[in-house]
Amino acid sequence: MEIKLANQAPAEIEADAMVVLAFEGTTPQGEPARELFASGELTGASCETAIVHHPSGYKAKRLVVAGAGKPEKFSPAEMRKVAGAVLRVLKPKGVGSICLVLGDGQGSDDFTSAAVEGAILADFEPDQYKTDPKKDEKKVDAFLIAGGSAAGLNRGRILGESQNFTRELINEPGNILTPTLLAKRAREMAAANGLECEVLDQAKMKELGMGALLGVSQGSEEPPAFIIVRYRPQKATSQDHLALIGKGVTFDTGGVSIKPSEGMEKMKYDMSGGAAVLGAMRAIAQLKPAVTITAIVPAVENMCGSRAQRPGDIVKSLNGKTVEVLNTDAEGRLILIDAITYAQRLGCTHMVDIATLTGSVVVALGHVNIGAFTNHEGLLQKVLTATKAEGEKTWQMPMDEEYKEALKSPFADLQNIGGRPAGSITAAWFLNEFTEGKPWVHLDVAGTAWNDEAKPFLAKGPVGVCVRSFVRLAENW
Ligand code: BES
Ligand code: MN
Ligand code: ZN
Repeated sequence: MEIKLANQAPAEIEADAMVVLAFEGTTPQGEPARELFASGELTGASCETAIVHHPSGYKAKRLVVAGAGKPEKFSPAEMRKVAGAVLRVLKPKGVGSICLVLGDGQGSDDFTSAAVEGAILADFEPDQYKTDPKKDEKKVDAFLIAGGSAAGLNRGRILGESQNFTRELINEPGNILTPTLLAKRAREMAAANGLECEVLDQAKMKELGMGALLGVSQGSEEPPAFIIVRYRPQKATSQDHLALIGKGVTFDTGGVSIKPSEGMEKMKYDMSGGAAVLGAMRAIAQLKPAVTITAIVPAVENMCGSRAQRPGDIVKSLNGKTVEVLNTDAEGRLILIDAITYAQRLGCTHMVDIATLTGSVVVALGHVNIGAFTNHEGLLQKVLTATKAEGEKTWQMPMDEEYKEALKSPFADLQNIGGRPAGSITAAWFLNEFTEGKPWVHLDVAGTAWNDEAKPFLAKGPVGVCVRSFVRLAENW
């Protein structure tokens, strides 16, 4: 899909469809939109669409009036959804070129970027493994923006493509995307974008003493990979060094504490955090914010092979603390603690981790909000500012000291589960036991990394959650 700015006046643009926005509770501009409102065919509610053929006064074949919700609630996040919904309505109809007209006050970088992101994200289908003849498949060849900004378009393209890069990785099934392949994809992405990439192999991890991570990976024939991608700005505005740490479990069977088979197929998404930090690095390399950033992705497969760790096993983490593994399905936290320790060894001053960590966060927040946990309110505020700007809803969860009591083990320094109550919080406390007081935010995206039902603006499947927010965090730093 080609994306570019349209320079002519809207009436002069030749496209299969010209799209204008109309707001709820207002009298829209232009005769066709007014008539659609008068007839009740359109109310202006978000993501509604109506199509008028041969609109008078336009060179375009169709005029699409798209509802954009209440004007006072309109934001780049809303623009992103509406642009996406328009694309997903028109694409199956064979509409090959679409021109979105941005109205007054919508031509800024942020609105333009959001519109472009919305179109690129909506165009993504997780169908790469379908071998059906695709000859009937419809394509949108051109997406034009009238009244937008060039900088916004460029940013939107980078963000949309980077988020789709993440979604492609998440969508790969476990038999294809092993830790080794994830590392290869990271290396290729880094090379193509001028980033440094280093991958620690199993021998190196043993030598370093990453016993928590290795305990998880020992149940699989697939070797683990510890992926490090570095971005160094030409001119950093501070000494800060941000670590973006993403859980990279390429498939989670649960290990010996095996998961029920129903729904287990979704566990290919258990590397969504790792894929998100890699997608963010791709965009960061192109947008060049002024802060040093290192992405770390501990990648393993959690299997129940004959060498798998057992409930009751005690492992020694990289920082020396011992952990009693009461449940091998609480594996994300085991690989993350070694990554958190390693980030500090690399000199990272701030850490943000992202993980599909607990079913418990889905119970608490459903599929709407990301769960956020921190030991440092200042860093959390930075993260929340970024997620808000990107329309990625995030809710802070409490971290009272009382919760960590549940992690006391009779036989080791810690145990890896804290029981059913407050499961996402005890998981966060487990991670926090390894931050050594360095500013840290943990994002539990178990409920938000996968779209169980298609949305008007997004296909069913991988979301690519937090890619844009991490880029925004870096840019705002
Ligand atoms: N990857 C899962 C988290 C998960 C579970 C996401 C269900 C979506 C749905 C994680 O590794 C896990 O299995 N967590 C366990 C922890 C428990 C054993 C303490 C969970 O949440 O059930
Ligand atoms: Mn698990
Ligand atoms: Zn998991």
